[in-house]
Amino acid sequence: MEELSDLTGKTVLITGGNTGIGYCTAHALLKRGARVILGCRSDEKASEAVRRLREEIPSAAVEFELVDLSSLRSVQDFGDEIIRQEERLDVLILNGGAMATDSRQRTREGFERTFATNYLGHFHLTNLLLPLLEKSAPSRIIAVSSAAHKMASSNFLDDLQLDKNSYGKFRAYCQSKMCQVTHCCELARRLKSKNVTANSLHPGVIASEFFRGRWYESILKWVARSPEKGAATSIYLATSDDVKDVTGAYFTNCKQVSSHRIANDREIGAKLWSLSEEFVKKALGS
Ligand SMILES: NC(=O)c1ccc[n+]([C@@H]2O[C@H](COP(=O)([O-])OP(=O)(O)OC[C@H]3O[C@@H](n4cnc5c(N)ncnc54)[C@H](OP(=O)(O)O)[C@@H]3O)[C@@H](O)[C@H]2O)c1
Repeated sequence: MEELSDLTGKTVLITGGNTGIGYCTAHALLKRGARVILGCRSDEKASEAVRRLREEIPSAAVEFELVDLSSLRSVQDFGDEIIRQEERLDVLILNGGAMATDSRQRTREGFERTFATNYLGHFHLTNLLLPLLEKSAPSRIIAVSSAAHKMASSNFLDDLQLDKNSYGKFRAYCQSKMCQVTHCCELARRLKSKNVTANSLHPGVIASEFFRGRWYESILKWVARSPEKGAATSIYLATSDDVKDVTGAYFTNCKQVSSHRIANDREIGAKLWSLSEEFVKKALGS
């Protein structure tokens, strides 16, 4: 891989940057001189992450803003605040995510929780920040998806809230990650003339907080890679000249690979977009 570029003067926003892959991504980008904003849901965890980053990198220009990705109202307030305070945004990394509990959970706004956290909040956030990304072009949007997206049903749009099919936390997770990949392909089509790229990625199987407390955590320890290694593809997509004109693609191990066979389908991308807009409108009334 080529030498990573100097990021002095660039601003990067990373959701879920207080731990795991997001934290390691922030660390690497700060080392290269970027200003980094972490979008986190816990004041305590975010403060501690910022303290550690400043301790490890004394020159770090890092701060955080609170956001609960599962709440469109919280995402709206967060996005408004970023637009109000920031002059530019060069890289948006949609990294925060989780696999919800065994039983179905709905958010206060009525959405299936994994869908809301991993995809719908990021959909709305991206739309809110697009004017800033376009103003700062060339700029990049990067979604940390998962190879699990390939296990989503090709009919996923028929049951985004898993109301019709029986709920399963893994099914919900795969579907939310499929939405992220499809969303990036649609963004790439919509932003082609704006010099804003949109790509998604699989970080590998990573020993982060993601698997904490799960029965298979101790088994995964033997096969999973470190969060530092898990951040490699996010860092590559955020910084490398190799991908400055690549958009609508899906990566793993810093290489472009194929995604779900219908992720780049125009009709599916357009339908996901309009359904997402309707969900946002219903929740926020605008
Ligand atoms: N680990 C893997 O093997 C793996 C594989 C494929 C894809 N991924 C994806 O990689 C991304 C990063 O995961 P990771 O492995 O670094 O896991 P992690 O250590 O659990 O980090 C996830 C981050 O997302 C944040 N988050 C979760 N729900 C949120 C919400 N409602 N609002 C705001 N932030 C929220 C977490 O905040 P808290 O600290 O407050 O919980 C944390 O900062 C995720 O999108 C995950 O799906 C991971």
